[in-house]
Amino acid sequence: MCGIFGYLGKRDNALELVIKGLQKLEYRGYDSWGVTTDLNGELFCKKKVGKISEANLDDFTDKKATIAMGHTRWATHGGVTDANAHPHFDPDRQISVVHNGIIENFQEIKDELGAENFVSETDTEVIAHLIAKYRKNHPFKEAVLKAVQRFEGRFAIVVLNVGENYLIAARRGSPLIVGIGEDEYFLASDIPAFLEYTQNVNYLDDNEMVIVDGGVEFLNLETGEPIKKRLVNIDWKAESAEKGEFDHFMLKEIMEQKDTILRAINQEEDDIMHIAQQIKNSRGCFLSGCGTAGKVCMAGEYFFSMIANRHVNFAPSSEFPIYHHFLRPESLLIVISQSGETADVLEAMEVAKSKGAKVLSLVNVEGSTIARQSDFSIHIKAGPEKAVASTKAATSQMALMLLIATAMRGELQEGRRVLADVGSKINDMLNPRFLTYIKTVAEQLKDHENAYIIGKAENYPMALEAAIKIQEVSYIHAEGFAAGELKHGPIALIAKGTPCISLVANDEVRQDVINNTMELKARGAHIIGISPEKHDVFDEWIKVPDVGVASPLVNIVPIQLLAYYLAVQRGLDPDMPRNLAKSVTVK
Ligand code: G6P
Repeated sequence: MCGIFGYLGKRDNALELVIKGLQKLEYRGYDSWGVTTDLNGELFCKKKVGKISEANLDDFTDKKATIAMGHTRWATHGGVTDANAHPHFDPDRQISVVHNGIIENFQEIKDELGAENFVSETDTEVIAHLIAKYRKNHPFKEAVLKAVQRFEGRFAIVVLNVGENYLIAARRGSPLIVGIGEDEYFLASDIPAFLEYTQNVNYLDDNEMVIVDGGVEFLNLETGEPIKKRLVNIDWKAESAEKGEFDHFMLKEIMEQKDTILRAINQEEDDIMHIAQQIKNSRGCFLSGCGTAGKVCMAGEYFFSMIANRHVNFAPSSEFPIYHHFLRPESLLIVISQSGETADVLEAMEVAKSKGAKVLSLVNVEGSTIARQSDFSIHIKAGPEKAVASTKAATSQMALMLLIATAMRGELQEGRRVLADVGSKINDMLNPRFLTYIKTVAEQLKDHENAYIIGKAENYPMALEAAIKIQEVSYIHAEGFAAGELKHGPIALIAKGTPCISLVANDEVRQDVINNTMELKARGAHIIGISPEKHDVFDEWIKVPDVGVASPLVNIVPIQLLAYYLAVQRGLDPDMPRNLAKSVTVK
């Protein structure tokens, strides 16, 4: 949701470092930004509505400090204003706080502390005020501990107190990672922020606090007792989190699908077999995720049914708790998440665990909360994904589910072969001519208000995912339908020239989808067919390779590109769509 970055160490350009780190985290929140430091015993702060990518580093070069922290905001409490931007302070402007999450009991604390002393509408400001209250009679560390113990909700916070050369961070529910460099320390809500300085990290777990001074000291938030943490080495390269030659992360990440599928299926055979066996052994298996990952789960439902003859139930994570009546110790929940931090997914996991069920996960961020809280987790190895719209993570997740389904059928090697072929065909497909063609299709669509996408069977979830892609980055109203459902309502929306995308795989439902596409055409729709084979009903034909049951993996790629070009042609920033965040750590 929001991006947090803190630095303490040997360099004296801490403010610049924090700004650069936050620029790498901007995908987490881009409503406003702010930074703060202790400048020779005086609190310095700059905060502003807008994107931190537009911050001028020259404004900070003369402000020498070895400690600083900052924040990029995705607004929850209070509008997008300079005053509501983080950091927030106590009334004496000694203690500053950056925060991700929601303090649910903030109103009660605010009333107790005197609402008239507050200058923002945020829940965050109570953190600084309450710490300041306790600070009067306690050392800083204890004051933070006492304050944090009173907060209800999910949060990650970092606190800086003028005159005390250390940072204190605490976590319950929102991610916070400690990067350990050589004589320097980083606190961030995601790893790419400090990847160029260190690959060694400690993950803060829920109800943990860390004091960063000349070293790191971890404490249990409830008891104040010290705890030992394991240092983890992250295998991401710093360049993998940069845009490189591309204009946007979204395009870069779409293009990376040339090799991410191959990386995803390069897993230990034992791990895949373990998951396959767990699904077989379970009584009641569920798949759950949010947004794009949710649509991937739906595709998984079809893969397990079509390939492994196994019924698996999909529920979006926000709906999953309703299923608690069906959960028991023999149940299995498989969650899918790019970030590994999505709040609704974590809640689904808690519900499943409370009933004694096992939880498996497929995640892209190694060591993320979801990975750590699962009984078993597979890393999809897509590398950092920074554009808000998920692309390469989705195809990697689908590849893995297909692989698990083939393993359940005893055909793991055949599954690998098929998916390796998909990977190489996507590599071929993503050629300059293909990109140019998608651009021209985008030109035809860019001034339309609505677009509809149809698909059937394993491509029905892709019709839904296609709609998400187009909506989230181009703001064109897009909806996906099961092809057969068209005539039960949606066809009333079709008028002359309405753009309709039809996902026509070379499979047993091909003729049905063609028939439904004809129904659209008969009402005047402009048909964009995504298919291995040409058909007269298509006004535009986007040719994709024929990859059998793996068709969702190749069909979604041109739509990702189409959504990208639509955003660019409509003058929008595809990496940072309005109102959205990459990682949704609040419910
Ligand atoms: C947000 C993002 C989506 C993503 C969803 C789930 O809504 O904008 O792109 O699909 O969260 O995220 P996850 O990290 O759990 O896959």
